[in-house]
Amino acid sequence: MKFTVVTILPELIEPSFAAGVVGRAREAGTITVATVNPRDFTTDRHRSVDDTPFGGGPGMVMKPEPLLAAIASVAPADATPRPHRILLSPAGTPFTQHKARELATREHLVLVCGRYEGIDERVIELAIDEEISIGDYVLSGGELGALVVIDAVSRLVPGVLGEATSADEESHSHGMLEYPQYTRPAKLGELDVPPVLLGGNHAAIAAWRRQRSIERTAQHRPDLFARFAPTAADRKLVAPLAARTHIALVHHPVTDRTGKVVTTSMTNLDIHDIARSSLTYGLAGYHLITPVTVQREKAEYIAGLWAQENQVRTPPKSGGRGDALALIQTADSIDTTIAAITDRHGVAPLVVATSARAESFPAATRQTPEALRAEATLSPNPILILLGTGWGLADSLIPGVSRMLAPIEGSSDWNHLSVRSAAAILLDRLFGRTP
Ligand SMILES: C[S@@+](CC[C@H](N)C(=O)[O-])C[C@H]1O[C@@H](n2cnc3c(N)ncnc32)[C@H](O)[C@@H]1O
Repeated sequence: MKFTVVTILPELIEPSFAAGVVGRAREAGTITVATVNPRDFTTDRHRSVDDTPFGGGPGMVMKPEPLLAAIASVAPADATPRPHRILLSPAGTPFTQHKARELATREHLVLVCGRYEGIDERVIELAIDEEISIGDYVLSGGELGALVVIDAVSRLVPGVLGEATSADEESHSHGMLEYPQYTRPAKLGELDVPPVLLGGNHAAIAAWRRQRSIERTAQHRPDLFARFAPTAADRKLVAPLAARTHIALVHHPVTDRTGKVVTTSMTNLDIHDIARSSLTYGLAGYHLITPVTVQREKAEYIAGLWAQENQVRTPPKSGGRGDALALIQTADSIDTTIAAITDRHGVAPLVVATSARAESFPAATRQTPEALRAEATLSPNPILILLGTGWGLADSLIPGVSRMLAPIEGSSDWNHLSVRSAAAILLDRLFGRTP
């Protein structure tokens, strides 16, 4: 495959092919890389390739004639197949692995590099087949972009990489990010290689890798994850949503009827009933949040009493209320709860607010419980659902909320559900099984 880079700075291109996979491919003749300098096609004494922009404005623009002549010099006008002419431009379509694969099927790519404020627009109309951007930032010239394209495309050209399959398993080749890789030593200080990779069970290794690939994509690239079409086998690899969902009853910051930010008192009914609903629907934790130490101690005391109640039975009772109250954890703030959940699951939770008022949390995406379930089922991230007390969560003091569940609507205009009832209804809509 042939690459020709049209650039006024060929010295930026050449050294990049002195080593590495692409350098070896060039040495072996699997690919060729040449440069053409528009300065060699100037006709004036100063060999100028730029001029001031019509209409004024900062900087200079690359003149059309030297660029057009340089591009035309790459191949005769009637060459078949005609080289595919690409302009590197921050205004182009984003470069992706999919595009690299498409370009790898061409025989000859001409990569045109702008400098200064860019190139005269008429060059694009007359001599460019497509414009490609390597990312949403502005470089000072197209050369780095051309090198990126050459590198990504070359390794897909048959014979450039050792094994035909090695490009196939990588990040982006199937719209997902690659699983983590490890090599010797198996133990590096405190850090061990995941044991499954040392066991030689190929099916278990493949499942582990697929699971990590799904998790990584969900965590790092929600945009890619949104387009992911899971198979039935994929669904089995991700922990059930309820087992990653936490619910928190927030006693501060909440508002009173006048809108003032206050701290409410815990109630025994909330401690018991939401814990019972949480276990019924299989949640990972029920968090009671208050900055008041004695209130936290009260909740811990009550949960402890019920745990003892289980133990004093002979044989010790399981399946009793003590199991539900064992889900209780207390925290002095929402941030402390988020940190505890992050610690437990190894990744930060998606924080979901609830409110009886549709206008609360204006910056958060509004979702029905059904839509949240659909979105979150395959993402491995934990979820933290915040329930307010008093007159509801003080939204301006709770940053980091990315979703808000649509208010529950009954069939009358009176809408004052207790937080216990609201929690049960939401949990049923999220996790209930229709008989
Ligand atoms: C300083 S930039 C010109 C930016 C131009 N004034 C604009 O705002 O779109 C000079 C040249 O760098 C190259 N370039 C800059 N950013 C790029 C990117 N993200 N992807 C590809 N090429 C880029 C292009 O060839 C461009 O013509």
